[in-house]
Amino acid sequence: MGSTQVLEQHDRTARPAGVIDLRSDTVTRPTQAMRKAMAEAEVGDDVYGEDPTVNRLEALAASIFGREAALLVPTGTMGNQIAIKVHTRPGQEIICEERAHILDWEMGMPALFSGCVLRTLHAEDGILTWPEIKKKIPAPSYARAQTGLIELENTHNMAGGTITPVEVMEEICDGAHDRAIRVHLDGARIFNAAVALNQPVAEVTRRCDSVMFCLSKGLGAPVGSMLVGSRTFIDQARSIRKALGGGMRQAGVLAAAGIIGLEQMVTRLAEDHANARFLAEALSQLPRLTVRPEMVKTNIVIFDVTNTKMNANELLGRLRDRGVIASGVSDSVVRLVTHMDVSRSDCEQAVDIIRSVVSK
Ligand SMILES: Cc1ncc(COP(=O)(O)O)c(C=O)c1O
Repeated sequence: MGSTQVLEQHDRTARPAGVIDLRSDTVTRPTQAMRKAMAEAEVGDDVYGEDPTVNRLEALAASIFGREAALLVPTGTMGNQIAIKVHTRPGQEIICEERAHILDWEMGMPALFSGCVLRTLHAEDGILTWPEIKKKIPAPSYARAQTGLIELENTHNMAGGTITPVEVMEEICDGAHDRAIRVHLDGARIFNAAVALNQPVAEVTRRCDSVMFCLSKGLGAPVGSMLVGSRTFIDQARSIRKALGGGMRQAGVLAAAGIIGLEQMVTRLAEDHANARFLAEALSQLPRLTVRPEMVKTNIVIFDVTNTKMNANELLGRLRDRGVIASGVSDSVVRLVTHMDVSRSDCEQAVDIIRSVVSK
């Protein structure tokens, strides 16, 4: 079944009447095809490794990423934190961008769970480069905490869905590996990056030691993220998942939706990217908003509201009153995320509403 048919089957009218929800691509609801597959999924106890649908999803993910193995985890946060735990030792540093999800939204878990310190650096548009990272790696010394891991985020959420180009990621991976440092990719939205780059995810991510990606964002599954990597990495990850209470039993009901996400929902991400670009271009016509449409390559648009004389929260409140919901990145920056539950006509309406609010 092609992705267009899936979209036709998907009931966009089920959301609260009139609300255009641009807060995140996590708000998507499973398609009819997913619901049917979930209802009919063959299941077993996945903690015993006996759930055939989970096993099928893990094999599929491993093959799409060209890796030895994959692991289904309940959330992206758990996936990232398991990877950090496997790759590091307590007392080590993890290099990441200063707005990284692992820092801002994962509840201090690198410190709490893995005993690591985050060594952050600011990167223009969230795109880290090897020359900048290299400066943050201390020389081998008994007297300094050593770098245990480099963590990249592609696409970069808080920087506006920006893409780190493949050659930039590869230079980072090669430089890290020369120093025996591993690289974990928070690829919550790596399929958005791959679709925008028109390259397979296996190519885009091939030098990273581990990748986490989400089924529950643009791919539309209700629950689930995945880790991919070597067999040894995944074996260790499975054990840590169990320790965290993330061993799920008849998880095939969730995996069934994930399989449809991987098989049918990837190519349609281009539609979300076109809608995001449409939003950015339309909003750039509004003199009180600061938007950079040329930066919008995937499904996230961020814009600065300082010249509206409202802070982000006030603006968000006024938009909400008129039926558009979005989220704030900071006191002055608002984020819109497109996904399969918003159509082009929803985006047109959203622009009209934003225009009426910021023009007053
Ligand atoms: C870049 C990034 N990484 C990780 C996550 C975590 O995913 P989850 O909400 O499933 O824990 C998110 C969620 O928004 C994200 O945007």
